[in-house]
Amino acid sequence: MTAITEALRRLPKVELHCHVEGTMRPSTVVELASKNEIELPTSDPTQLYRYTSLDTFLEIFWLVQSVLGDGDDWARLAYESAVDGAEHGLVYRESFFTPARHLDAGQDLGDIVAGLAEGCVAAEEATGVRIMLIADIDRAYGPGPGLEMVQRLVELRRANAPGTDRVLGIGLDSTELGVDPTDFAPAFELAGRSGLRRTSHQGEVTPPTTIRAGVDVLGCERIDHGLSLLDDPELTQRFVDERIPLTVCPNSNIRIANAYPRLELHPYARMRELGLLATLNTDDPALTDLDLTYEYRSVMDAFGYTWDDMVTIALDGVEGSWLDPTDAGALRARITADADQLASSLATG
Ligand code: ADE
Ligand code: ZN
Repeated sequence: MTAITEALRRLPKVELHCHVEGTMRPSTVVELASKNEIELPTSDPTQLYRYTSLDTFLEIFWLVQSVLGDGDDWARLAYESAVDGAEHGLVYRESFFTPARHLDAGQDLGDIVAGLAEGCVAAEEATGVRIMLIADIDRAYGPGPGLEMVQRLVELRRANAPGTDRVLGIGLDSTELGVDPTDFAPAFELAGRSGLRRTSHQGEVTPPTTIRAGVDVLGCERIDHGLSLLDDPELTQRFVDERIPLTVCPNSNIRIANAYPRLELHPYARMRELGLLATLNTDDPALTDLDLTYEYRSVMDAFGYTWDDMVTIALDGVEGSWLDPTDAGALRARITADADQLASSLATG
C-alpha cells in the first residue's frame, strides 16, 4: 500500500450511506444460508456481484438479505460490518437496515433491532467504532408495510425496547422506477411527529422531481445519492444555501446504477465545486468489492484532490451527520488532529 493510500486508510472517517446487509462478508452469506436452509445459486456469492442496473442489483441484495433468519444473525452481521469498516478508518456510521422482507416473513422488528444493537455494542468494545441505525422502508413493498414498520418502531421506542435508542431515524430505499415517493408521506409524517430523523434515497435513477419530493413532501433532512440534483439548478441552489446534505456513493453509482462508465465522469467534483455538502460513502461495499479506503483513494485520483481536500470531505461527513453538537465537535477535533499527524508523517516520508 502506498503512503497516501495508507494515510487515507487511517484518516478517521464517517459514513452516512451504507446498508448493513450490503456489508455482509461472502463467507457469512454462505454460512447463514446454510444455517437457515436458504438455497444459493452458487457456492461463491461473489460470482453474482455484477450488475447492469439498480434493479438487477436489488435482486442480489434481496437474496443476500434473505439469509438473515433471527436476531443472532443480525447481531453477527452488525458486528462484522463495524469491524470491517474500522479496518478502513471508520469511526462513526449511521447505517441503514431494510427489514421489510424479514417482517413479511414473520420476524419482529424488536428482535432485529435488539440483534443489530448487540452487534454494534460488541464492535464498539472491540474497535471503538460507533454505529447508529436508520430503519429503511423498502419501496418495493409499498406504503402500507412502510407505515406499519414506522408504527412498530414508534411503539418499541415508547416501550424503551432494547436497542431502540440506537435507531436515529428512518429512510427509504430500493427500487425507484415507477414508484411515487409521495405515497410514503404518511410513514414519514408519523416518523417526524415521533421525533425520528428522516432521509431517503432519491434521484439515483430518477429525475430531480423525486429529490424535491424527498425534502418538500417527506420532510427529509438529507438525501441519499441525489445523483440527478444538478439537472435542476434552482433546487441545487437551495441545497447549497440550506446546506442540505447529500450522501453520495460515486463508485456505487458506477457499479450498481451503471450511471457512468468511469469515475472521472461522475458529478461528485462538480457537486462540491458548486458548494453542495456532498459527503462520500460506499453504499454496499461487500456487494461491490469496495471499501472506504478505496472510495477515498479513487475519488482523490479521479478528481485530482489534495490531502486537505480529502480531510475536508471527511469533516463534511460530520456536518452531514445526526450527531449532537457536542459529539460532532469532538469528532471534528479528532479528525483534524489525526489528519495533521498523518500529513506530517506524509511530509517526512
Ligand atoms: N439498497 C441497497 N443499496 C441500495 C441502493 N444503492 N439504492 C437503493 N436501494 C438500495
Ligand atoms: Zn443506498
